[in-house]
Amino acid sequence: MAEEKKKTNYLSSSESKKILRYNLKQMKYYEKEKRRKKDPSEYLTHMKDDANLIEIDGLETCFFTDNGTVKSVNNVSFEIPKNKIVGVVGESGCGKSVTSLSIMQLVQAPQGQITGGEIRFNSSKLGVDENGHKLAYNIAKMPTQELYNIRGSEITMIFQEPMTSLNPVFTIGNQLDEVSFIHTPGISKEDAKAHSIDMLNQVGISMPERVYNSYPHELSGGMRQRVMIAMALAGDPKLIIADEPTTALDVTIQAQILELLKKIQKENGCSIMLITHDLGVIAEMADEVVVMYAGRVIERGTVREIFNNPLHPYTIGLQKSKPLITSNSQEPLYSIPGSVPSPINLPDTCFFKGRCNRCINKCEGKYPGFVKVTDTHSVACYLYEEKKEENE
Ligand SMILES: Nc1ncnc2c1ncn2[C@@H]1O[C@H](COP(=O)(O)OP(=O)(O)OP(=O)(O)O)[C@@H](O)[C@H]1O
Ligand code: SF4
Ligand SMILES: [Mg+2]
Repeated sequence: MAEEKKKTNYLSSSESKKILRYNLKQMKYYEKEKRRKKDPSEYLTHMKDDANLIEIDGLETCFFTDNGTVKSVNNVSFEIPKNKIVGVVGESGCGKSVTSLSIMQLVQAPQGQITGGEIRFNSSKLGVDENGHKLAYNIAKMPTQELYNIRGSEITMIFQEPMTSLNPVFTIGNQLDEVSFIHTPGISKEDAKAHSIDMLNQVGISMPERVYNSYPHELSGGMRQRVMIAMALAGDPKLIIADEPTTALDVTIQAQILELLKKIQKENGCSIMLITHDLGVIAEMADEVVVMYAGRVIERGTVREIFNNPLHPYTIGLQKSKPLITSNSQEPLYSIPGSVPSPINLPDTCFFKGRCNRCINKCEGKYPGFVKVTDTHSVACYLYEEKKEENE
C-alpha cells in the first residue's frame, strides 16, 4: 500500500503539513532578505571578465509548491558578453523564462525565490573599489529597493504577448512618457513626449504622433510589439531580455521584429538575451547559444558550433526535429521519445538518461560535469572527454 502511495505521488496529511511548514519558513526567510537594508558590500562584487555584461554563476531558483520544492533553475551558469546576442533554447518548462525572470528579480514571489548562486551585472552606474577594481552588482543578493536603480533602465524585458504587458486603459503616449518620468526624474512633459516620439520613430513606426495618442487595442500585434520594444529602449538599456518576442506574430511580422531587434542591438551597442523555441530564429540572430534541459544548461557554444557540431544527444535531437525545406513532406517530423523527469524528484544521474539512445556505462554515475571541447564550446555529457595537452 505504501508503495502504491509513492507511485501515485500521494501525499499524506502529515507530509503535506510538513511541506507547508517548510515552505512558509523558506518564503519568510527569502522575502525578509529582499527587504532587509544591506551593507553594499553584501551585494557588490567584481566581474570575472570585464568583457562580459552579465555572468550567471551556479544560479538556483526554486518554487516552494504544495507538492514540494521545484528546482526550476538548477545550478545554471553562462555569460552574456557585451554587444552580443545570446540565444537560450530548450523545450517547454526547462527554465528559460525563470532564468530570465531571476535576472530581473521578477520570479513570482513568495513561492518563487532565488536560493543560490550569483548573477553578476557589469553596471555602468558603479565605480571602482578601494583597490581600483571595477565593481559589479550581484543581483541575486540585491535588496529589491536597490534593484530599481537598474531594472527597467539598464536591464529591460520584452515579453511574448504585448497585449498583456500594455495597460489597456492608458494611451501608448501615457505609458511611454511614464518610462521617462521614472528614469529621468525632473524631465518636463514636453521633453518626455519628444523622447517617446523619438523612440517610436526608432522602432520603425511611420506615424508616431498617431500611435502616441492611440490605445493598445487600436494597434495590430506587430505594432504593439514595436511599442513594447520602444518602451524597453526608453531607458537606454545595456541588456534587453526578449522572451519569445515573436511567437505571437505571423511570419512576415516576426522577420521585421527580429530585424529591428538586431538593428537596435548593433546601433545602441547593447546585448540581447533571446529566448525562443525556434532554432531558425537562433541561427539567424544569435552569436552564442545556451541549450537548457530540465533546469540545467547542457551545452553552450557559438552559433556555428551548436549548429555545425551539436554534441549533446538532446541538442542533436533538437536539430533533427527541425523542419527542413528539403525534407520529404510525407515523412513525419522526428520527435525525441519520452518526457522530462518530474522537477520535484529529479534523479542523481543525467536528467536525459531516460530518453537517450547513446547511453554508456558511465551514464549510471552521478550527473555529468561540463567538458570543455573548445574554448567556447562545452557540453555536460559522458560521451566527451576534455582534450589533454600533448606533452602532459
Ligand atoms: N509560478 C510558478 N509556480 C510553480 N512552478 C513554476 C512557476 N513558474 C514556473 N514554474 C515551473 O518552473 C519550470 C520552468 O518554467 P519556465 O517558465 O522557466 O519554462 P520555459 O523554459 O520558459 O518554458 P516555455 O518554453 O513553455 O516558456 C517549469 O517546470 C514550471 O512548471
Ligand atoms: S550523459 Fe549519457 S545519458 Fe546523458 S546525454 Fe550523455 S550519453 Fe546520454
Ligand atoms: Mg517561457
